[in-house]
Amino acid sequence: MTSQEKLRILLVKSGGEAAIDEWRSHLAHFAATESPEAAGLDVRWWNDASVPPEDVAYALVWQPEPGRLAALPNLRLILSTAAGADHITTDPTWPRHVPLIRAVTPEAAQRMGEYVCMASLALLRDLKRSVRQQAERRWNSFETERSATDTCIGILGLGTMGMRAAEMVRGLGFRTIGWSRSRKALDGIACYAGDVELQGFLAQCDILVCLLPATSETDAILSAEHLALLPRGAALVHVGRSSHLRFDDLRAALDNGYLSGAFVDVFEQEPLPQDHPAWTHEKIIVTPHNAAVASRRMRAKFFAAQIAAFERGESPVGIYNAVRGY
Ligand SMILES: NC(=O)c1ccc[n+]([C@@H]2O[C@H](COP(=O)([O-])OP(=O)(O)OC[C@H]3O[C@@H](n4cnc5c(N)ncnc54)[C@H](OP(=O)(O)O)[C@@H]3O)[C@@H](O)[C@H]2O)c1
Repeated sequence: MTSQEKLRILLVKSGGEAAIDEWRSHLAHFAATESPEAAGLDVRWWNDASVPPEDVAYALVWQPEPGRLAALPNLRLILSTAAGADHITTDPTWPRHVPLIRAVTPEAAQRMGEYVCMASLALLRDLKRSVRQQAERRWNSFETERSATDTCIGILGLGTMGMRAAEMVRGLGFRTIGWSRSRKALDGIACYAGDVELQGFLAQCDILVCLLPATSETDAILSAEHLALLPRGAALVHVGRSSHLRFDDLRAALDNGYLSGAFVDVFEQEPLPQDHPAWTHEKIIVTPHNAAVASRRMRAKFFAAQIAAFERGESPVGIYNAVRGY
């Protein structure tokens, strides 16, 4: 069998085998209620040995093993359960002729905005110090230097995630600026663009938030050279990708007092190894790459809509652009 009409198998590698029933029921629900062209999908587990590879039309994946996507000869769409596509494109064999859709749900952007607000306020008010004092049962009232209105938050990357985060921190009263490849026009947010404006942007950021994709151009953007361009006492919220950050450079800048604190959500090795210095660093808060995890239900809604659009011959939302690398 190879006729396109019969290819309805969606192979899922996200959430493990235990999540298959949930994916199946959410996808069926959204096909029935709002995306009829996605009806009748045969949702199967990634390692289901009874699935003939040539019958697979769609693959919904997080970190597929290298070579696995290339072994699906009639694949029509790749659905990334993350907003980034690097967990797929680092496989040199990934089938570049197949459209790749990144999960860019409004719910994930909202959750990212919440994380950035939480981290920024926690850094502003030195929450870590209160947590430490509580562990020691020590009542020691302390003042922090600034309030949001005299603190500048700079967001690297003004895409789906960065724009929502910028709007939300601005709503808290922070002076908000952003940097992207192409210049944006956003209400109340000063927008910088391109490499030539990076230095002037960084020089203003009391809190720097990284929401860039992992590309060759953004590799090591959070290295000693750029961290040194931040004002003394600045803090970092790193929610981009591990390839952006030279962790040892961050640690050195925190240890020598140049930077004041950091939230780090993404690491080169995940789960973070037990002996990683971030676990115990007094100025770092580690979160387990969950800054913006959208619910399975909302991702299923998004994917059903994109499969339906694709089936209608329309362009789905969130298509990865191989030339830009994101
Ligand atoms: N930690 C988490 O849980 C989590 C969750 C979701 C996403 N993320 C991270 O957030 C990233 C962004 O997601 P998104 O959905 O917002 O992506 P997006 O919509 O594609 O936005 C990417 C932004 O980065 C800018 N950019 C890319 N390359 C650049 C460069 N070389 N110089 C300057 N700006 C550059 C883009 O500029 P243009 O607007 O000019 O194209 C755009 O504003 C993901 O790729 C991932 O790394 C992390």
